[in-house]
Amino acid sequence: MSDDCDTCDGCCGDEEPTRPSIYTDARAEMERRDYAKVLATVGGLTAVGSLAAPLMGLTRVFERGYSGPVYSDGVALVDGEGERVTEDTLAEGEQLTVFPEPRPGIADAPTLLVRYPEDAYGGETAMESTVGGYAAYSKVCTHAGCMVSDTEGETLVCPCHFGKFDPTSGASVVGGPPPRALPQLPLTLSSDGHLVATGDFEGPVGPGGE
Ligand code: FES
Repeated sequence: MSDDCDTCDGCCGDEEPTRPSIYTDARAEMERRDYAKVLATVGGLTAVGSLAAPLMGLTRVFERGYSGPVYSDGVALVDGEGERVTEDTLAEGEQLTVFPEPRPGIADAPTLLVRYPEDAYGGETAMESTVGGYAAYSKVCTHAGCMVSDTEGETLVCPCHFGKFDPTSGASVVGGPPPRALPQLPLTLSSDGHLVATGDFEGPVGPGGE
């Protein structure tokens, strides 16, 4: 085992990889709002008998929660307070964690909304899925399901194993162990100026999937 393995979960190959819990990995601090959202999702999916149960089952909850469509055409994006996101919510260079507007049959799905000048995008970005300089990606890391909650400059960073994603290139992987990009969410502006999805994420959310 290498020295680095004192603080990792075996992803370097010296050990059988295990999925880290974002609650047991001290580097993987989840934003409190996301934590509350996850617990709300857990509460909606299972009868929660103890605190340990939802924590242990978090990764499974993500897998199950995202196994079917989360967003669909016309679903509005809302902030952590449930307020709809408008075309003026973010300035260029800013980002925000958003969610699908709750409605029956739809689960919460932490989503990273970013805004850049339109000509800043390139590479793997699905430009037809951006609008007004906004692009949105799943916040669930494709490596082991932690929240991609940090940044280094403009690079999105997952704190669990320092996976890095470029938000101006379709959230493609630019560092660390994640096997693929964060899936992009297709966006448009509604007639009343709110950001809405035009469909579900353009790829599997979280670990697994190709
Ligand atoms: S969960 Fe390992 S880099 Fe994100």
